[in-house]
Amino acid sequence: MTGMLKTDLCIRLGIDHPVVLAPMAGSTNATLVAAVGNAGGLGSHGCAAVPPDRLGAETAAIRAATNRPFNLNFFVHRTPVADPGREKALQARLQPFFDELDLGPVPSAAAPFPPFGTTHLEALLADPPPIVSFHFGLPGADTLAPLKAKGCLNVSSATTVAQARWLEEHGADVIVAQGAEAGGHRGTFLNDDYASAMIGTLALVPQIVDAVDMPVVAAGGIADGRGLAAALALGAQAVQMGTAFLQTDESPIDSSYRTALSDAEGERTQVTKVFSGRPARGIRNRYLEQMADVEHDLPDFPLPYGMNGALRKAATERGIADFPSFWAGQAVALARPEAAAALVERIVDEAQAVIAGLSG
Ligand SMILES: Cc1cc2nc3c(=O)[nH]c(=O)nc-3n(C[C@H](O)[C@H](O)[C@H](O)COP(=O)(O)O)c2cc1C
Repeated sequence: MTGMLKTDLCIRLGIDHPVVLAPMAGSTNATLVAAVGNAGGLGSHGCAAVPPDRLGAETAAIRAATNRPFNLNFFVHRTPVADPGREKALQARLQPFFDELDLGPVPSAAAPFPPFGTTHLEALLADPPPIVSFHFGLPGADTLAPLKAKGCLNVSSATTVAQARWLEEHGADVIVAQGAEAGGHRGTFLNDDYASAMIGTLALVPQIVDAVDMPVVAAGGIADGRGLAAALALGAQAVQMGTAFLQTDESPIDSSYRTALSDAEGERTQVTKVFSGRPARGIRNRYLEQMADVEHDLPDFPLPYGMNGALRKAATERGIADFPSFWAGQAVALARPEAAAALVERIVDEAQAVIAGLSG
């Protein structure tokens, strides 16, 4: 039987275990969110690319599958500024890849999704989720206030102590301390000094715990009960795991992504801007390696994502591992295929055994 590691944050969120399924745009769905919620963790759905008029249906699908709390996540990046020179240069670089897959001309730059805005807010207010989380900062007080008035808790990620303090001052209720080990996009904001916002989870979590007066969730490189026990020892009140959940039975990722994950070791992952224009950790493949020289000359996030979208999609459909963005963190090799509920229960049991072993 799965025991209890209930923290104050678990009580506040209404969950049984201090385990959060990371929101993963494109890689979470209602089934996975509900499976984690029903197992007593917190399910999060990455909604950055969900059109606002689909949000109601996504929320309804989650509610139909669970009556437990859940979290919807959005990107609050700056609206990209056009840069015709960089866009033309990227088009020229992508054309040989497009030719290789017979995809015709590379499209001109267009954002594949907008930042969180008024239409998203209206959709959320129509059927408010218990928890709303943001990546790359927080929306303004005029957005947070109506959400809070509806009872939504606001969460965002920090990769430095300065970002955590900023989030506390600007209305976050919970902070995710995202270490450099994490898969997917770095939540870094406030400046573009991405290279230095690469603090490891072990160093970052206790510094953020000391700096802010609110619950902290540890993220990055945590994939088993040892990681959960360590995060609790560092002062975190829960862990947020992405990479570990990607390999669960309910995860909606395709088979080439699953294969890439199961074949990868931690050193095969790398933080790169080449897919989207913002730094994110993924498994090295041909696109990641061959585009490395344009890393610092890309159009604004998320324009590159729009421009290479057809390439990533076609490669995925044809099972070609050279071009998709296989986001994954450094703990990728710790994860294994299993049901999401089994993962939640296993890491809680393992963490309890670790903690008991230490005190014994
Ligand atoms: C495939 C993937 C997609 C992600 N997408 C998002 C996202 O949409 N929003 C977000 O806040 N974090 C996103 N993240 C980051 C996670 O919230 C979290 O910080 C990270 O997964 C923790 O590290 P781990 O992958 O080592 O568990 C993503 C991570 C992965 C692996």
